[in-house]
Amino acid sequence: MQITAIPVASLGLRRSSRQFQPERVRHLQRAGGEMLMDRLSGAWLMLDARDADLIPLLPSPMETLPPSPLTSRLGALHEQLKAQGIGYPQWRPPHDTLNTVILKLTNACNLACTYCYDHEDMERATVLPVADVERVLAQALDLVDQRLWVILHGGEPTLLWPHIEKIVLAGQALAAERGKQIDFTGQTNLTRLDERMVRFSVEHGIDWGVSLDGDAPVNDRFRILHNGNGSFALFEKALSRFPRFVRSCGVMTTVTAINAHRLYPIAQFFRDQGMAAWDWSLFQPIGRARHATDMEPDAEEVLRSWSELFDAVERGEFDGFPVKPVTKYLDNFIKGPGGNMCMRGDCGAARDLLSISANGVIEACDCIDPQGPLAGLGNVATDSLEAARAGETARAIRSRDMNRHSMCGDCLWYGVCGGTCLAHAQGLEDVWALGCAVAQLAFDRISDSLSRSERLLAYRRSLS
Ligand SMILES: C[S@@+](CC[C@H](N)C(=O)[O-])C[C@H]1O[C@@H](n2cnc3c(N)ncnc32)[C@H](O)[C@@H]1O
Ligand code: SF4
Ligand code: SF4
Ligand code: SF4
Repeated sequence: MQITAIPVASLGLRRSSRQFQPERVRHLQRAGGEMLMDRLSGAWLMLDARDADLIPLLPSPMETLPPSPLTSRLGALHEQLKAQGIGYPQWRPPHDTLNTVILKLTNACNLACTYCYDHEDMERATVLPVADVERVLAQALDLVDQRLWVILHGGEPTLLWPHIEKIVLAGQALAAERGKQIDFTGQTNLTRLDERMVRFSVEHGIDWGVSLDGDAPVNDRFRILHNGNGSFALFEKALSRFPRFVRSCGVMTTVTAINAHRLYPIAQFFRDQGMAAWDWSLFQPIGRARHATDMEPDAEEVLRSWSELFDAVERGEFDGFPVKPVTKYLDNFIKGPGGNMCMRGDCGAARDLLSISANGVIEACDCIDPQGPLAGLGNVATDSLEAARAGETARAIRSRDMNRHSMCGDCLWYGVCGGTCLAHAQGLEDVWALGCAVAQLAFDRISDSLSRSERLLAYRRSLS
């Protein structure tokens, strides 16, 4: 019996019962054999095609079958399932401890990207006071087990560079007092990069992601200055002044109607520019972009484009370069759910994650519509993070259980998918249609590829 599988220990799972639950186990014919999947834990294995005849027998209690060569093969398969934790209820550590805080330091921005939900000019902007941030960091450090990740966000966070330096120094001092660790990352347009930012970021280990939607003609359709000019030239200037630093940043592309069909060339472009990685964020019609339905990418186009990108990854064209629209799904499939807080049934919102808006409002996640029903867990001026997490809205958000949904509750990918982002879905009980379609395509392609070749495993190894 040829079996490829994820060891249950690597999923952070522990078997809590020896009772086999056949209804958790789904099978799917793949090019290289039959895949068995525990739809709740995401653990799986590939069977040799000649063992597929055992599958209908899986639900049968072993002791009811008369001894035969088939029964002994079935016994061996059951042992494998038990070892991998497939079909057996498992205990996994809950994600109920805060570990990540997003700080939207201001809603001001020197750009005016057409799709952006957050870009006031500096005169009308709101700024999160440093004293409030320090209080938030102290509270967050008290809540985390050992390590706090802080994501500097906005608006454009680098407009407040002196604030950032104070915040990072204060955070490091607060963490040291408590014997805990603090890590800073940030998302920026990089248009104002200077010596001081580079030096401080390097000295204090701040990892930045840069937002760019493609090459100049594509990027400059929506990522524009307040005067309407494109912003790509400012990125080029930063790249020529600080090539090493800029290339250490990963790129984040917002996928809209104008670039959805170009995922493969966009990934090639940023690989060839020498950037550290490439990621995507699918357009969300919230805030100012609420009525911008013409910016919504066409679902069929996204799927076609993702498949084209996947083919290139599979061919080895991106070896050594993280293509995150593929690796997110690949990692969840190979390592098992848990590592990515957006691809678990119990997603990060109001659990391991909180987001602080520039006006002090505490949100479960920065993607949640600030004008929608899930907005506003409290305000840092009056409420502690602990109280915000304990409040009614936070509890409602955490109560989302997509395994009760008519589609997800019957889906073999539920364990590795989690039921899509609640902020993109219409409501707490709803699936985000595009997220679901991409997940189905991604897990279908990945499982099929892994059943017939080691290519994706080689790609993953090339990234370490
Ligand atoms: C709001 S910006 C803030 C940080 C910084 N100014 C930047 O551009 O990276 C954070 C990210 O959100 C993305 N974004 C903005 N509006 C969006 C929308 N309506 N849907 C999806 N992503 C969006 C941006 O492209 C950027 O990658
Ligand atoms: S640079 Fe960032 S914050 Fe500024 S308008 Fe563009 S997406 Fe929005
Ligand atoms: S969102 Fe779609 S792919 Fe994900 S679990 Fe639900 S039905 Fe399956
Ligand atoms: S709401 Fe969406 S973006 Fe936020 S943590 Fe949950 S899945 Fe991720």
